[in-house]
Order: sequence, then structure tokens, then C-alpha cells
Amino acid sequence: METLFPRVSISLEDKAIDPRALFGAPEEIWLEIGFGGGEHLAHQASLHPGIGFLGCEPFVNGVAKLIAEIDERGLGNVRILNDDARFLLERLVPASLARINILYPDPWPKKRHNKRRFINDETLAFLARALKPGGELRFASDIPDYIAWTLAHIARFNRENGETFIWTAEKPADWRTPYEGWPGTRYEAKAIREGRTPVYLSFRRA
Ligand SMILES: C[S@@+](CC[C@H](N)C(=O)[O-])C[C@H]1O[C@@H](n2cnc3c(N)ncnc32)[C@H](O)[C@@H]1O
Repeated sequence: METLFPRVSISLEDKAIDPRALFGAPEEIWLEIGFGGGEHLAHQASLHPGIGFLGCEPFVNGVAKLIAEIDERGLGNVRILNDDARFLLERLVPASLARINILYPDPWPKKRHNKRRFINDETLAFLARALKPGGELRFASDIPDYIAWTLAHIARFNRENGETFIWTAEKPADWRTPYEGWPGTRYEAKAIREGRTPVYLSFRRA
């Protein structure tokens, strides 16, 4: 953390952040929001060395785990914000991301805490702005109420702002089948162990 983290840490000093400038000449940029221990992010980053990966995670122990992975695997294509993803989203230059992963976000299952969920009208506007046309928003969860919440918020966002996020599932198998090359995540393993069924949503930015 002392030596490597400062080299890969994303600074919030600038009001506008062009993520391409954080890497050499990336083919495209992917963002993972709430990467936990970083297992999924490190896996993707080693599979796709030409892509620049941004990861946001406020939990410092998770960041430390990802730093260890970056070091062990010699990954040069990962940059980290050890903070709330909203601070990065509001600074990203428009249409700068090709993919955004939100994998097993905190469920906030109690009704009175639902408003703390990451998906809301404000963050959807940020996500829409940051994704380039044709880009992909992935949302995986094992909490039926949060899945319904996300679909309802996206449907309303589309009604109010014009078709923005197009759900690409054509049949139930599409949202029950993990994304291609999916390595799983720590929370997914926990959900399956405890008998909950994961759902994998995918939306294309119009
Ligand atoms: C349930 S865990 C899932 C972790 C990982 N994605 C997985 O599937 O194993 C949710 C993670 O999101 C992080 N988180 C919560 N709010 C966040 C925010 N506003 N921005 C970025 N990360 C956030 C939490 O610290 C936590 O590590």
C-alpha cells in the first residue's frame, strides 16, 4: 500500500477526469464499482491487458487485496479510487467508458434503507453520461427486490430521458446465465452457498 498504491491511485483533484490519460493507449476503458476484494477486476485485467481498468472501493482492506494482486500478477492496466464511485462518475468526461460493472452491490434490504442503494435516479444519470454509445452496463445481484428495483428505475429513466439503457435479455436464460468468461465473485459464492440465485443483467447504452 505504501509504495504501489500511490502509483495506481486516482486523484480527485481535477474537476474533469479523462480516464484515457491514466493509461498508455488503452483500447477501451472499463469501470468496476464496489470491487470488494478485487478478484473479478484482477482476473479481467490480466485477461485483457490492452484495456484500462478503473476500480472504485471505499473499503481499504479490499483495496489492499487488489494491490497485492496487481503486484503479484504484474498488472499495469489498473487504476483505483479508494472512495465512493460517485466522486469519480461525476468527474469522468462523457462517453469515456465502454463497460461498467456493478457486481453484487450492497443490498440494503430494509425498506427504510433502500434509498442508500447505489442505483438511483442521480447515479443512473452519471452512468448514462459516462458510458459511450454501444457501451455496456452490467448489474449482477442475488437480491430479488434489488433486481426489481434496478429494472424499475431503469425503465423510468428511459421513459423520462428517452431510451438510454436497453436491456439485452431476450429470454430468462439470458439473465440466469453468467456473463461470458465469468470468474464469479466472492459475494456470488456466498450467495450460492446460502441458497440464493444470482441474476445477471446487461444493458446496452443507446
Ligand atoms: C456486497 S459487496 C460486493 C463486492 C464484490 N463486488 C463481490 O461481488 O464480491 C459491495 C461492495 O461495494 C462497496 N461499495 C459500497 N458503496 C459503494 C460506493 N458508493 N462506491 C463504490 N463502492 C461501494 C462496498 O464497500 C463493498 O465492498
